[in-house]
Amino acid sequence: MKCVTRFAGLLAALAVIVVTPSLAAEPKALATCIGCHGKDGVGISADYANLGGQNRAYLVLQLQGFRSGERKNVLMNGMAAGLSDTDIDELAAWYAGQAWVVADNGNANLVEEGLNRAGYCHACHGMKGYPVTEDWPILAGQSAPYLDNQLRAFKSGTRYHPLMVNVVKDLQPSAMTALASYYTQLNGLD
Ligand code: HEC
Ligand code: HEC
Repeated sequence: MKCVTRFAGLLAALAVIVVTPSLAAEPKALATCIGCHGKDGVGISADYANLGGQNRAYLVLQLQGFRSGERKNVLMNGMAAGLSDTDIDELAAWYAGQAWVVADNGNANLVEEGLNRAGYCHACHGMKGYPVTEDWPILAGQSAPYLDNQLRAFKSGTRYHPLMVNVVKDLQPSAMTALASYYTQLNGLD
């Protein structure tokens, strides 16, 4: 009996370790990021991406893209330029381990139009904004102005991915705003 209780206690202790991602040590490069993304990954401006709870593998790929200049953004290219591979791994792990906060900051009147336009997106971004691979971003709950900006960036070429280029080719700006308004209010539960 005593033995069973102790075993249960041990299991509980292990469970705490497994489900508490914030136990990861604070990366030394984090100080560079918190002015814009916070410690918890919630952007201080709606144009800055929310990073908390985003897929870790995707975050690594984006930081590498900003560092090499393949993905262009005046603020982020400068921030990523000096990061080592270890910094990138640690920062991605840190932000992926924070809670994902649903921004829901789009235009509520455009959600239905966005849903109607999202049929084509589901194949890769999932029915609820969760992608089929960790190399790709979670869209559900991301900040709407940020999502809108990314669709424009794929269209203008400041951001490139072979799969997204075709997607945005025929999208008008008003459709991008509607899609951003749809994805930002998805909370993964309904
Ligand atoms: C001066 C403000 C600023 C600082 C400091 C900053 N960022 Fe950013 N970050 C931005 C902006 C603006 C964007 C949106 C870029 C765009 O529109 O393409 C962004 C985007 C990102 C993205 C892309 C997210 C996605 O969903 O694709 C990642 C990852 C990121 N930042 C990580 C970091 C990390 C890690 C640091 C610290 C080393 C950092 N940022 C520091 C402003 C900043
Ligand atoms: C064939 C697969 C595919 C389809 C279909 C697709 N996407 Fe994507 N999407 C991707 C991939 C892959 C990325 C990651 C690009 C990168 O790594 O830069 C992405 C990235 C994005 C991003 C950037 C998110 C961020 O956090 O920075 C947005 C926004 C986006 N997609 C919206 C859409 C919308 C809206 C549709 C439908 C109109 C759509 N996508 C259809 C594959 C797809």
